[in-house]
Amino acid sequence: MSNTIVIGAQWGDEGKGKIVDLLTEKTDIVVRAQGGNNAGHTVISDGKEYILHLIPSGILWPGKQCVIGNGVVMDPVALLGEIDGLAGKGIEVTPENLVISDRAHLVMPFHREMDAYKEASKGDGKIGTTKRGIGPAYGDKIDRIGFRLHDLVGDPAQFIERLAQRIDDCNTLFEAAGMDKLDVEVIGKDLLAAAERLKPFSTDTVGILHEAMKDGKSLLFEGAQGTYLDIDQGTYPYVTSSNTTSGGACTGSGVPPQKIDRVVGVTKAYTTRVGEGPFPTQNDTLADRFHKMGREFGATTGRKRRCGWLDLVLVRYAAMVNGLDDLAITILDGLDDCPEIPICTHYELDGEKLLLPPASAKDFERVEPVYESLPGWESDTTGVRNYDDLPENARAYLARIEKETDTRVSMVGVGPSRDQTIIR
Ligand code: GDP
Ligand code: IMO
Ligand code: MG
Repeated sequence: MSNTIVIGAQWGDEGKGKIVDLLTEKTDIVVRAQGGNNAGHTVISDGKEYILHLIPSGILWPGKQCVIGNGVVMDPVALLGEIDGLAGKGIEVTPENLVISDRAHLVMPFHREMDAYKEASKGDGKIGTTKRGIGPAYGDKIDRIGFRLHDLVGDPAQFIERLAQRIDDCNTLFEAAGMDKLDVEVIGKDLLAAAERLKPFSTDTVGILHEAMKDGKSLLFEGAQGTYLDIDQGTYPYVTSSNTTSGGACTGSGVPPQKIDRVVGVTKAYTTRVGEGPFPTQNDTLADRFHKMGREFGATTGRKRRCGWLDLVLVRYAAMVNGLDDLAITILDGLDDCPEIPICTHYELDGEKLLLPPASAKDFERVEPVYESLPGWESDTTGVRNYDDLPENARAYLARIEKETDTRVSMVGVGPSRDQTIIR
């Protein structure tokens, strides 16, 4: 059976949820391996909209197994809220269809407070995080002082003792900053209740995934965030705190690289970004147009997404560092009424041509995007279901992307519903 990784090729929100949902039909197990509830993956299933944050999108399909791997940082209270929210929509999440790695690190309330505190103290230099505590939780993991799921469900009393000490330390800092102090009694009570409910989900997911592969089952890895939010490959420091690129799927799940058969990169037909940081092809007119249509608001925080034209420097490099086998281009329909479509083929910096992104965020802010203008198709593609039925100019646009990135376009999104996807 074959194992596939789905990865965002831009700054997140490329439409990974929809593509994962589509590919889930032909897979057995859907795995999240990094990130946390900073993610917001929109899936429209049976006419209902779902936004998944921590739980793999595969949960919406009956009979599929979902896994939260060791590389994810998990907020126990947020996860239970998500489970309850899904139950309210008729989706039952049980240890039968969801297992969570006992090695996954936990996002604690003081991580969330610390996230807010750090952002506030950076002033204009803030990252624009989702304030879900993701950076501080990964920071503790790397610093080897993190809290893991097995700590919570294995020995809750000792967990609370350790936590109390940590909250004490944090409170000194929060108090000095004029912030509210955290109440260890209240937090401890919530966490003990969470431990009780989460215990049946907590297990050695590496063993489960390897057994499944031996039984010939197929895995689908649902990437969170995107290549340019990757802690190593992204627009550092305006990134998230995990490896969002394809290698993160392996380290975050315990599935080795030679078991991966296919890596699919997802990119919008244009570009968006939420939060701060460089964005060479940003275009406020395009953003206004989408926002007036009620589109391009963050699925997690509701913030307006910044919008711009397609940047092939980004997609080209994403194809390289992720080892993309093919591309899924989403929201092609978003460009349906554009008479001309600029596409950025490379940057110029101090008279030099750049085909790949620069390392420094300052240089990234200074690059001049160089565009080629392609003719639009000015017709409604939302009803198209066959590649060959796309307008000629739309096919030419996609062919240009393939040429510049040396990667085949295998799927094209022409609307938010599952069936509004052209499989080539
Ligand atoms: P993710 O985080 O990568 O899963 O993406 P988000 O869910 O945050 O944002 C993608 C948005 O685009 C969602 O509102 C989707 O419903 C929507 N979407 C995905 N694919 C398409 C498409 O092909 N056309 C249109 N019009 N919307 C799409
Ligand atoms: P999905 O999976 C878009 C952005 C934040 C901020 C930066 C750091 O839905 O594509 P963090 O809270 O992670 O420390 O914030 O990363 N960010 C995302 N942007 N989509 C996401 O997830 C994101 N997750 C984090 O806006 O700029
Ligand atoms: Mg999203």
